[in-house]
Amino acid sequence: MKIRKAVIPAAGFGTRFLPATKAVPKEMLPIIDKPTIQYIVEEAVNAGIEDLLIITSRGKDALINHFDKAFELETILERDGKEEMLSAVRDISYKINVHFIRQQEQKGLGHAVLYAKSFIGREPFAVMLGDDVVVSDKPCIGQLIEQYEQCGASILGVQKVGMEHVSKYGIVDCENAGERLYTLKGMVEKPKKEDAPSDMAVLGRYIITPAIFDCLEKTPKGAGGEIQLTDALVMLAKKEKIYAYDFIGKRYDIGSKQGFLQATVDFALSRPDLKDDFSAYLKNITQKI
Ligand code: G1P
Repeated sequence: MKIRKAVIPAAGFGTRFLPATKAVPKEMLPIIDKPTIQYIVEEAVNAGIEDLLIITSRGKDALINHFDKAFELETILERDGKEEMLSAVRDISYKINVHFIRQQEQKGLGHAVLYAKSFIGREPFAVMLGDDVVVSDKPCIGQLIEQYEQCGASILGVQKVGMEHVSKYGIVDCENAGERLYTLKGMVEKPKKEDAPSDMAVLGRYIITPAIFDCLEKTPKGAGGEIQLTDALVMLAKKEKIYAYDFIGKRYDIGSKQGFLQATVDFALSRPDLKDDFSAYLKNITQKI
C-alpha cells in the first residue's frame, strides 16, 4: 500500500529553548529564515506525502497560522510584484494538505501518535519528529518509503550515534538483513550506556503499519513516566516483522542548542545568497578563537 500520510508530533513545551519558547512554539524557531517545522514538511512533500497531521497543543496556534493563507500579506506582496517573497509565504501550503489536532495532555510521544488513529485509518504511515532535521539528496522519509515498498513492513530510520549518546535515544538491537537494512530484534528507550544493545539510534523517522494503534492503546508508561512509541514498537515487533534502515544523510539534532547552532551555520554556508560573506566572517572570527 502506498504511503500517503504522515504525522508530525509537535505538542511539546520546548523547555530546552526557554525563554524563546514561552510564547513561540519551538517548531517555529527559524534556521535562518524558515521555521524548523517547514524543513520537515518540505521533506514530506519531496517524498510524495499528500496528507499531513500535525499534533499540536494549547498555545501553539502559530503553527496553524503558518500553514494557512496570509490573506493581507499575500495581497500586498502580489500588488507590489514581490513574486519571490510571495512564493516563500504561500507555496508550502499549496503542496500538501496539512491537518491539525491538539493533544490535550502531554503524556509522551506514543500518546501523541495515538491521536492520529482516526486520521490514519488502516494504512501504513510515516512519523517524522521535528527535532531531527536531515539533509540528504533523497529525502530521508523517502528512503524509508522506498524500503517499505520492498519489504512491506514497519521501518525505523537509524544511524550510529556513538555509545556516549545512547541515553538520549531509542536504541535498536538488530541483525543485518541487506544493504543498510536490519531486522529489529529489540529496542530500548534511552538506555544507560551499559544497558544499550548497540549505538544505533532511531532518529525521528518511522514508517509504521496501523497495527501500532492497538499496541499504543495497551502501552503502559515507560521511560520518563511517559507513554513511549518505542515500547509500542517493541510490542508490534512481537506480532509483525519490523526493519531498521541506516538512512543516508546528515542529521541535525535541532532539539539541542549545539545541534541548532550547527544546522544554522551549515545551512548558511550552503546558501548561495549568504555563503560568501558568512564564510569570510567565520574565517575571521575563528582566527581569533
Ligand atoms: C524521541 C524518541 C526516541 C528517538 C528520538 C529521536 O525522543 O522517543 O526513541 O530516538 O526522539 O530524536 P525525544 O527526543 O523526544 O526525547
